[in-house]
Parts: sequence; C-alpha cells; structure tokens
Amino acid sequence: MTLKAYNQVPMPSFMYGTAWKKEATTQLVELAVASGFKAIDTANQLIHYQEALVGEALQALEKQGIKRDTLFLQTKFTSVDGQDHRTPYDASADLTTQVRQSFDSSLNHLNTEYVDSYVLHGPHQRRGLGEADWEVWTAMEGLYQSGKTKMIGISNITAGQLTELCEQATIKPMVVQNRCFAVLGWDKEVREICQPNGIIYQGFSLLTANRAVLADREIRTIAQRLATGPAQVIFRFAMQIGMLPLTGTTSQQHMKEDLQAEQLALSTEEIQRIETIAM
Ligand SMILES: NC(=O)c1ccc[n+]([C@@H]2O[C@H](COP(=O)([O-])OP(=O)(O)OC[C@H]3O[C@@H](n4cnc5c(N)ncnc54)[C@H](OP(=O)(O)O)[C@@H]3O)[C@@H](O)[C@H]2O)c1
Repeated sequence: MTLKAYNQVPMPSFMYGTAWKKEATTQLVELAVASGFKAIDTANQLIHYQEALVGEALQALEKQGIKRDTLFLQTKFTSVDGQDHRTPYDASADLTTQVRQSFDSSLNHLNTEYVDSYVLHGPHQRRGLGEADWEVWTAMEGLYQSGKTKMIGISNITAGQLTELCEQATIKPMVVQNRCFAVLGWDKEVREICQPNGIIYQGFSLLTANRAVLADREIRTIAQRLATGPAQVIFRFAMQIGMLPLTGTTSQQHMKEDLQAEQLALSTEEIQRIETIAM
C-alpha cells in the first residue's frame, strides 16, 4: 500500500523508525527491511539517531540485492537547540548554510544522492513561526526545487504553526510528523489541516504515548475479534483514518506482527469508538 501527498510522490504506508537504536541500528534496519518495511525514518542528530549506521545497513542491503530506489528514506534537519556538541554542521554559520551542510552530511551518511523526504525536526519556538523557521524552510524549499529531496516536511508542529506554514510558504509541506496522543483525538486538529492540503500525516509514539489505550478493555476485545494484539489494532486504526504510523520496535516478532496490521479491517463503529476512546 502507498500514500500520495499533493505532489503525487508515493510513500509506503508504514514506516520503521530508528530513534534510540544506538549501535543496534545497522542490524535492526536490515531486519526491518527483511521483515517487509519499505520506509525508514532517521535524523542527522546523534543524541537520538545513528544516521551513518542506517547508511551502513543500506550498503549491506544493496549487497543482498535490495536497491536504494526500492526503499523510501526520510531524514531530518535538527537545529542547534536539538543537538549536542556533535552538531553535523557549522553551528556558527547562517541557517541556510546549516541546512545545506546538514543535508549534504545526511546524503554522505546514507550513501545516497537523494532522499525521499526531508523533514524539519521542529520549529524554533512553541507558538507561531519566527524568522529562523522561515529561513530554514526557505532553504528546505531550495533542496526540494533542486530535486535532491522528493518531499519536504515538518515535525513537532502545532495546528496554528501548520496553518501559518500552509498559508505563507512558497512550497507547502508534503509531510507532517507528530507524536500522536489519543487524548487529543489522535492529533485531530493537525490531521484536519493535513487532509484537505494533501499532506501525509505521520504519527509517532502511537504505542508509547498511549499506554492506557493499549490496555483498554475495548481495544482488547477488538484485538480478540481480529485474533491479533492491541498494538496492531492501534496501527490499523491509524491506517484506516489516513495516518501513516511509525513503529520503533526492536523485536523481529513485533516487526512482523506490526506489518500484519495492513491486512486487518476495523468496522466503522470500531473506528468511531477508538477515535474518541481517550477523550
Ligand atoms: N520527529 C520526532 O521528534 C520523533 C520523536 C520520537 C520518535 N520519532 C520517530 O518515531 C519512531 C517511533 O517512535 P517510538 O519508538 O516512540 O514508537 P512506538 O512504536 O510507539 O514505541 C516503540 C515501543 O513499542 C514497543 N512495540 C512495538 N511494536 C510492538 C508490538 N507489536 N507489541 C508490543 N510492543 C511493541 C517496542 O517494544 P519492542 O522493542 O520490545 O518491540 C518499543 O518499546 C522513532 O524511531 C523515530 O523514528 C520521531
């Protein structure tokens, strides 16, 4: 299954996330692809991600005959605030230069000439978009126009900021990646901006941000009906409401189980119930 943003670039409907995998990143990315994942999410941010080890996994996969262009690669630009001393660009340079240097460093880490999606890790401020955000976004638009990334996107964004970006950017984001809380109607406000704008909404921490939902009796009953687990019910729910879920599992068993969510079907009543389950 694939999703398409407004620029018609296809994106696999489930993504493997590589945060916090440390030195296991190489092995886990290989395992994820062998299990069936076609899309990989990383970031050029050593505090949480090992982008270069994703690149090592891609090289190993290439040797096994899995070509780069059969995979969807997404990475991120992280501003100085989200980095430690190992900033992958000259932190004293202007923001446009920082974005270009970080992007080139990502291409180098990933052993590739292009990425499928390049995401701004988050705005510099909690409310609204400031001058720094616009400079970074303009630099990202430039990368999109150069063809070196097929999509651009933004993460950790509020509904207000996304509205501002959609209204004022030369090129609207094709992707939004947010932590998805059931108590916020699964980020309903942001999803409702994405949908009419043809932006693919990627939800992360669907399991870790919603532990009470996973333990909920109704979710367990649905899981029983489908002969599956609560995690798969949540992933399937995400897919059926048009969201692209990420999983960050470290277990091959869970990778396989999570992918099986694509084969499940929730009823309209079950979808409606889960939408408001924590509200
Ligand atoms: N843009 C951002 O700021 C940002 C922030 C955070 C994350 N992300 C992205 O989102 C990705 C996913 O985030 P996440 O790790 O929080 O996701 P998650 O999938 O909600 O959480 C992973 C946890 O769920 C467990 N799990 C996965 N599948 C399971 C299953 N079938 N049954 C039971 N437990 C299961 C895993 O345990 P096991 O390992 O034992 O399976 C692991 O402890 C990250 O890797 C990263 O790429 C982005």
